[in-house]
Amino acid sequence: MKRECPCAVYCVVLLVLVVVVGNTLALTGPPGSVCGSQCCDGWDQVGDTCVHCYYPCIHGTCVDTNVCECEPEWEGHDCSYDIDECWYGHHACHHNCHNNDGCYTCFCDVGFQLINSTHCVISPTSDISSTPAGLP
Ligand SMILES: *[C@@H]1O[C@H](CO)[C@@H](O)[C@H](O)[C@H]1NC(C)=O
Repeated sequence: MKRECPCAVYCVVLLVLVVVVGNTLALTGPPGSVCGSQCCDGWDQVGDTCVHCYYPCIHGTCVDTNVCECEPEWEGHDCSYDIDECWYGHHACHHNCHNNDGCYTCFCDVGFQLINSTHCVISPTSDISSTPAGLP
């Protein structure tokens, strides 16, 4: 049923309440964040309810009040922490792994080179080819 209220005013009051009462309200879930058939600014529609994450989901989506669903490779309450795939061993590197934001890259031991994103082969420019060939 459509709520009979001036949405703009209602939504502003709701936002001010969240800022003033802060975490307490945010943690218990702001009531009535739906005005008319739409969510107030700052609330996201999930199914037929509106949800709000007090800490915005940086690399993810707000799926419930203060619940972020993080994109792969991100974690934390606001999805701002990069999962270190190298540390956790969640990588496919043949030799070595280097973690970076949201992902990782592989690198090879000295004398080897990458043939694709993960695998190493002996580098053609290593010692073998620089050794003098033939007899003096
Ligand atoms: C990379 O090459 C290796 C060796 O040929 C192969 O086993 C592996 O599946 C390849 N990986 C990718 C991501 O193409």
